[in-house]
Amino acid sequence: MAQISGFSKLSKEEKINWLAKNYFSNPQKASETLQLYWNKDKKLQRLHDEFTENTLSNYYLPFGVAPNFNINNKIYAIPMAIEESSVIAAASNAAKFWQKRGGFKAEVLNTNKVGQVHFNYSGDPKKLTDFFEEIQAKLFEATKPITKNMEKRGGGILSIDLVDKTDALANYFQLHCQFETLDAMGANFINSCLEQIAESFINLAANFFTADEMPEIIMSILSNYVPDCLVKAEVSCPIEDLADDKNEAEKFAEKFVEAIKIATIEPYRAVTHNKGIMNGIDSVVLATGNDFRAVEAGVHAYAARNGQYQSLTQAKIDNGVFKFWIEIPLALGTVGGLTSLHPLVKLALEMLRKPSAKELMQIVAVAGLAQNFAAVKSLVTTGIQEGHMKMHLMNILNQFEATNTERSKVIEHFKANTVSHSAVVDILEQLRNG
Ligand code: MEV
Repeated sequence: MAQISGFSKLSKEEKINWLAKNYFSNPQKASETLQLYWNKDKKLQRLHDEFTENTLSNYYLPFGVAPNFNINNKIYAIPMAIEESSVIAAASNAAKFWQKRGGFKAEVLNTNKVGQVHFNYSGDPKKLTDFFEEIQAKLFEATKPITKNMEKRGGGILSIDLVDKTDALANYFQLHCQFETLDAMGANFINSCLEQIAESFINLAANFFTADEMPEIIMSILSNYVPDCLVKAEVSCPIEDLADDKNEAEKFAEKFVEAIKIATIEPYRAVTHNKGIMNGIDSVVLATGNDFRAVEAGVHAYAARNGQYQSLTQAKIDNGVFKFWIEIPLALGTVGGLTSLHPLVKLALEMLRKPSAKELMQIVAVAGLAQNFAAVKSLVTTGIQEGHMKMHLMNILNQFEATNTERSKVIEHFKANTVSHSAVVDILEQLRNG
């Protein structure tokens, strides 16, 4: 396949032409498809072009909403960006279900974020400890130009600790730092602080250690593992409120709790279970312009914190009361990053009435809990495919380019019949062959 140097310096049109010519059997069509997704508003398109390098076009995801979420007695319409057909419907159903049963309760347990300066040192550990004690305050001092504004608002660097990791890796030490970044996700703030800390650490070390003993910085970077930036969301209700029939309600509660226990002890199930939770979490994280990869990495590490990958949600029956909750680490921002740049992100945050980062943590945790409730409810009752295929029906109809008349007839037919790919194909064939 063709290669090129200086690609990033070409104009967008030149990039598309080169790619279309070298990588597509129908260059004209490839080029047209990419251009089909350009925004007519040139200013808006330029904004998107400049989010990243080598932008060719825009990649659409549906931007939807799950209304009627009662969280701490406030009603939210939650924006979600997601392509999977059943996710928003499931969230909306769970919101409606719990609205009648007291709604969701959520609380932020902690908001500490972490960053580390990783370095090697092969000298006397006692000398390093003495040095660190002597200069620790100077490290805080050196970051003042960066932390000044954050401190004014009540955030900043909470701690800088020297950690000896030589048991795990020869000569490896770190400066383990904790931060409070308030409404910012804080990646840039944390990384700037860490790089300054590393630079000052080395400068100060030059007066303390001989050339042979000098510590060597390997890297300075925030951690996306944030087990001390935690939020909890929960729902609860008397068991008999779970269904109209008392026996049915009891059976449901028991099977639900058993399903969560299975996801706690069985990693194969836990991964799918948590994937369902992330359907809800990622879609709100994306809609609000946050970094879903950071959230994913941190959440899954947290799910494995006991040495085995486990369910992120828990459930129990306590004195006739059904309780279901989630506790997850979420480092989110409602200022900075894309939040004031991307028009749909701004809109999403306005839809949520401009939440603080803490409030957004609660909303996102609730979205994850709701999604999991809807999935497990289906799994232990009707099975997942009934609802899933109903929502997927539109995708199948689109795949076969069904006309409006065909769509109405097929949708009507499947109100009373089970949707499957082959059943849709059959009925379309029947309609098309008279
Ligand atoms: C599908 O995207 C998510 C589920 O598989 C989650 C689950 O099994 O709990 C339905």
